[in-house]
Amino acid sequence: MSIIESRIDVGAEEYRQNFEKMSSLVADLKDALKQAREERSDKARQRVAEVGKLPVRERLDLLLDRNTPFLEIGALAAKDMYDGKVHGAGSVIGIGVVEGREVIVNANDPMIKGGTIYPLGVKKSLRAQKIAMENRLPTIYLIDSGGAFLPMQSEIFPDEDDGGRIFYNQAVMSKMGIPQIAAVMGLCTAGGAYIPAMSDEVVHVRGTGAIFLGGPPLVLAATGEEVTADELGGADVHCRESGVSDYFADDDPHAIAIVRELVRNLPAADKTRLSMREPRPPRYDPTEIYGIVSRDLKTPYDVREIIARIVDDSAFTEFKALYGATLVCGFAHIHGHPVGILGNNGILFSDSALKATQFIQLCDRRRIPLVFLQNINGYIIGREYERLGITKDGHKMVNAVSTATVPKFTVMTGASFGAGNYGMCGRAYGPRFLWTWPNAEIGVMGGEQAADVLVTVKNDQLARAGSPPMSAEEVDAIKAPIVEAAHKESNAYYSTANLWDDGIIDPAQTRNVLGLSISAALNAPIRDDVAGFGIFRM
Ligand code: COA
Repeated sequence: MSIIESRIDVGAEEYRQNFEKMSSLVADLKDALKQAREERSDKARQRVAEVGKLPVRERLDLLLDRNTPFLEIGALAAKDMYDGKVHGAGSVIGIGVVEGREVIVNANDPMIKGGTIYPLGVKKSLRAQKIAMENRLPTIYLIDSGGAFLPMQSEIFPDEDDGGRIFYNQAVMSKMGIPQIAAVMGLCTAGGAYIPAMSDEVVHVRGTGAIFLGGPPLVLAATGEEVTADELGGADVHCRESGVSDYFADDDPHAIAIVRELVRNLPAADKTRLSMREPRPPRYDPTEIYGIVSRDLKTPYDVREIIARIVDDSAFTEFKALYGATLVCGFAHIHGHPVGILGNNGILFSDSALKATQFIQLCDRRRIPLVFLQNINGYIIGREYERLGITKDGHKMVNAVSTATVPKFTVMTGASFGAGNYGMCGRAYGPRFLWTWPNAEIGVMGGEQAADVLVTVKNDQLARAGSPPMSAEEVDAIKAPIVEAAHKESNAYYSTANLWDDGIIDPAQTRNVLGLSISAALNAPIRDDVAGFGIFRM
């Protein structure tokens, strides 16, 4: 493999300014993550302590093997939404290692509105289940939830991808043979009762854990019967009488010790074996990515400089290096795993789209996972390019991305606009994981362009009616709100708050995050047995 030779001048003023900008974005990200982890009311902290429960992060510390990484999913979900305090949408979800086995953990946070489920909490749980199903990861639920956040019940209850889907998925996962272990560490009320009920094994904490279809307030209102939560659905009831729960735990640490034992008892993971290489660090410092990525999205940089700081030994076999220059494709290794990388180096043209299509086919046939480094303003437009068939060549790339069945991983490293988002494996194209850098912007098009489109449409209408075009003030009145909305809604934080990605990451950590993502993906077969693509329009 050839070693990428970096041409970056780390002493240049441009580099320094870029570095400063990205450093401040990463500092903001770290602050946001810290706030999401730590900001809880004193009242909620006291309540959890007085009933003898552990905070969610302490539960995770006990559950996960020491000194192993935790790949958190949706850490900033629901950021600045609801009352601004529903951090992580009320739960902590991530891939971690328990007894040497990669698992996905879905833990309610009882210090956020009693662990109740908001609309984005449902979406996050469904995302966790999708990850579990695609990557065949055993799932551990640490349940401590007041159930539906009742003021928003209509938004989480009835539709296909609402709360009911969680239990539906549990049944499907069970059928797929994906182990599910539930620890009842707080309330599991109403629909929430089905999370343990639909799991393979249930650990139940005495005193604090309770499972019931209707809680004490509802029972009192409906039947007049006065009963405590423990009498209604505590560990004694369910471990000794109903048989709903399987293992009796004295407290949180005991429950977690039992869960670890249950994971130890699972059959060994049947991980896909790829042609691994001895992992090697890149030859260049990954933190230098800060100085390479332009502080202005419109200023291009060479994506090979990023690849050189992500892949093992900075070694890269470039595919069709002299053709379709605006897309760099090639083979490399990340933490020893073979990967095929596609990285944008400008707008996508017909040749770059065709090159991508061939490269994706190659990787799919050879069972090589695909990594997309997405920094794209879209496919080229204009009369000349339409005549050359950019739409049909773009279609080939989108078709190949859609139907390749090897694991795909996407990192939004800058712009993500228009059909470029699709061709470069945006969320709708089924990447196993999608990570975003803090400088990224995502949208149909930039705000200015969207506003200009609408101004043109309006002026065309006026011209058809024989009226003069809009005045400068009228143009401003149309443009300002569009530009403002686009600015807010294309921001990486807006994207992550809505769970359009799996999280915003420090660019210097991209290699490690991808390594963990690929490792998790290998718990499932590498690709469908039936190879093939759709019909390519020629
Ligand atoms: N919907 C909306 N808010 C809820 C809620 C629900 N289902 N359950 C609890 N909350 C809110 C409380 O109003 C409180 O809000 P505040 O901090 O702004 O005052 C917060 O969550 C914590 O509740 P609190 O009762 O003070 O905490 P706790 O730790 O003593 O008990 C529960 C937590 C979840 C055990 C308890 O609140 C409860 O039993 N809730 C009702 C559960 C239920 O019947 N749900 C049915 C849904 S299908």
